Amino acid sequence: MTKDGIRIYEQSDFAGMHAAGALAAQILDEMQERVVPGATTEELDDYITRRVEEAGAKSATIGYRGYQHASCISVNHVVCHGIPGPKVLKDGDILNIDVTVIVDGWFGDTSRMYVAGKLSRKAQRLIEVTHDALMLGIEAVKPGNTFGDIGAAIQQYVESHRMSVVRDFCGHGLGRVFHAPPNVLHYGKPGTGAVLEEGMLFTIEPMVNLGRPETKVLSDDWTAVTRDKSLSAQFEHSIGVTAEGSEIFTLSPGGLFDAAAKG
Ligand code: MF3
Ligand code: CO
Ligand code: CO
Repeated sequence: MTKDGIRIYEQSDFAGMHAAGALAAQILDEMQERVVPGATTEELDDYITRRVEEAGAKSATIGYRGYQHASCISVNHVVCHGIPGPKVLKDGDILNIDVTVIVDGWFGDTSRMYVAGKLSRKAQRLIEVTHDALMLGIEAVKPGNTFGDIGAAIQQYVESHRMSVVRDFCGHGLGRVFHAPPNVLHYGKPGTGAVLEEGMLFTIEPMVNLGRPETKVLSDDWTAVTRDKSLSAQFEHSIGVTAEGSEIFTLSPGGLFDAAAKG
């Protein structure tokens, strides 16, 4: 069944999403102690590749449109889709690690921020505002509200802190597929867009910049950076709409997801 082109899943499908989301979130938990000055982003990605295999799951990103890694790792002014490589992390670097796994055909997609070494005050503020913005977006999710309500909640909060919301990338429907309708915008006007209905599955994944919102994609065709070189942060959860509100499939099993922001 679909509504406005958006697939409506059964309550019984939520178990599959929970399993996929829990694995992705567990792997992100395990990255916490591995993000240290001196580590390379490639080493972090190798660990993720191994863990996905060990769990008997599959990486959704390896082979996706030619992408060859189990994660995207986006450091400092990289907004998203950073490609793991020989880059060595240095003290004070902040990074987003984004993992999508497939468990029994269900997709779990989540990302969080990390710091190598010591967190600066301004990076801490950026990370806290971005995480709070995601959670406020999730609070706007319930049947009868609209996708515009989600975007408006995020945009209003971010801009009230004089930071900016990236427009060039958005969240997405998922479930049995990686990317499906709708585009989940992280900005917008209350009451606009498709109406939320129980059984919809999608991600919310705001990217927030300390400077201007514009991005550009580097010549590797993946890495998106802020045009003004300002720092950028992102958090992502996969969620499902319930009768009451929403269920988050990708909460940290160790309850650590916002520890990174606590310096
Ligand atoms: N996980 C990303 C998302 O949130 C997509 C990454 S696609 C890749 O939608 F190919 F770059 F890995
Ligand atoms: Co996503
Ligand atoms: Co993702």
